[in-house]
Amino acid sequence: MDAEKRKALRNAFGTFMTGVTVVTTLDSAGTPQGFTANSFSSVSLDPALLLVSIDKRSANFATFTESRHFAINVLSAGQQETSNIFAQKIPDRFSLVDWVEADSGVPLLAGSSAWFECELWQVVDAGDHAILIGKVVEFESQGSAGLGYYRGAYFTAQHHMAQGVTA
Ligand SMILES: Cc1cc2nc3c(=O)[nH]c(=O)nc-3n(C[C@H](O)[C@H](O)[C@H](O)COP(=O)(O)O)c2cc1C
Repeated sequence: MDAEKRKALRNAFGTFMTGVTVVTTLDSAGTPQGFTANSFSSVSLDPALLLVSIDKRSANFATFTESRHFAINVLSAGQQETSNIFAQKIPDRFSLVDWVEADSGVPLLAGSSAWFECELWQVVDAGDHAILIGKVVEFESQGSAGLGYYRGAYFTAQHHMAQGVTA
């Protein structure tokens, strides 16, 4: 695919509104690592599975694909700065945010809308990314509004539309 077509595809993918997450783990030296991701999706309730895709060019690619545990932190409306911190190549991202350790040791970011602590269930090779499928071992959800991402920019919900369909 040429550069122009690639950019058009990227823009077309960007028309899908998403939330923003920070994916976290500990590397083999026990140092916290994390990156911003909007490719998160819930997958299954039983077993409880979710997914996120990671770029093969990420400095943390080996750490995440070889880790036993990782966490998804769903960012809340006030956490744009956190999203930017974990999307930039800066040395110690975790010194700039408040976080605690989950039982498995993975970092959980304070102030998130929700977090999911996962065991790495499967890694699926997918082009220039790999899909990390996690089995949720613990989770918590706050009532706070989430941070949105659409066409390359952040947004927050001003008001809720009509109630969605619930089972
Ligand atoms: C809103 C947003 C969403 C992103 N989503 C992803 C994603 O789903 N997967 C991914 O690998 N990178 C994603 N990125 C880019 C990574 O956050 C970024 O490349 C990474 O933090 C670079 O640092 P690293 O090489 O140290 O991992 C996203 C960035 C932003 C701002």
